[in-house]
Amino acid sequence: MNIVVLAGGCSTEREVSIVSGLNVCKALRSRGHRAVLADVFFEADISGELFPEEYDADAKAAQISAQNDRVEETKKNRREFFGKNVLTLCRAADMVFLALHGENGENGKVQAAFDLLGIRYTGTGYLSSALAMDKGLTKTLFLAGGVPTPRGTMRTKAEGICTPQELSMDLPLVVKTCCGGSSVGVYIANTEEEFAAAMEQAFAYEDEVVIEEYIKGREFSVAVVDGKAYPVIEIAPLQGFYDYKNKYQPGATVETCPAELSEELTKKMQHYAELGAKVLFMEGYCRLDFMMREDGSMYCLEANTLPGMTPTSLIPQEAKVLGMDYPELCEKLIEVSLKKYNN
Ligand SMILES: Nc1ncnc2c1ncn2[C@@H]1O[C@H](COP(=O)(O)OP(=O)(O)O)[C@@H](O)[C@H]1O
Ligand SMILES: [Mg+2]
Repeated sequence: MNIVVLAGGCSTEREVSIVSGLNVCKALRSRGHRAVLADVFFEADISGELFPEEYDADAKAAQISAQNDRVEETKKNRREFFGKNVLTLCRAADMVFLALHGENGENGKVQAAFDLLGIRYTGTGYLSSALAMDKGLTKTLFLAGGVPTPRGTMRTKAEGICTPQELSMDLPLVVKTCCGGSSVGVYIANTEEEFAAAMEQAFAYEDEVVIEEYIKGREFSVAVVDGKAYPVIEIAPLQGFYDYKNKYQPGATVETCPAELSEELTKKMQHYAELGAKVLFMEGYCRLDFMMREDGSMYCLEANTLPGMTPTSLIPQEAKVLGMDYPELCEKLIEVSLKKYNN
């Protein structure tokens, strides 16, 4: 297949996305596909052969990374999100592998645009992407669909900062921006002062925040591919919670797959992951995050529609337990995503 691996963008996860994209591109090439890497936000090169047989993906990734410093300035001076010629290149592909993470890319807007343009892409569609990007809406749908989620509420900047008492909630509490990602804008508050400060900081990012009970316990994640749960992975940061640093600094977090859980709890978590994916109308693949108390009660925090795809990311680790190597997984994600177009 002729494949464009789309990476970069202008979210806080731009750099991780480039690592995902480079690896996906090389993996797909190793399986015989004519894959090329492109930055969704900056100009694509369409001067020569679009899907060449010989291709230097590392050089392309370096070229994309070299633009990192230009993101903010370009954002200010340009209205359109897509870089010049990016859509032309994508239109020419059989499939676009979305290696984007965060904001534009994960919030459904790229998917909606691609639907209208007839461009085929990996992952779920625009509606589920948009729903999952909003942690408040996700909570509402989880509650309606019987997926356990921490008790919580939403609050807008206009409603202002409040106390836990006013919400009839007890500390410790978690305050997080409604549409953030990578733990940016997630705060754990143990005191009233911390709670007020957390709300203030979260409102600096966004006008809407989610406030929920803090679940003390172990953290897990489960990929759902084509409606079926993959093996559960446990995430244990050596210090603190799974914040930005612990997500991306090598060695900061111990990840164990399959997680050391009883068969019963494993099945239960996989069941809730599949149910969570279903109530959010997920197609293709996604990954759901969980917390579990010592008594075995589990809570789904959120669903990620374009989760990390570097070779050491969580889904590739889960696939490995199933005997699937990284290039096979990349191909599998294309295969399951093509089902969207079969009706
Ligand atoms: N209710 C909660 N109880 C305990 N820890 C939480 C809770 N909500 C979030 N966290 C911690 O914060 C991290 C990020 O929160 P999450 O809701 O997954 O947002 P995102 O990953 O999109 O930033 C989680 O991986 C977890 O470590
Ligand atoms: Mg998360």
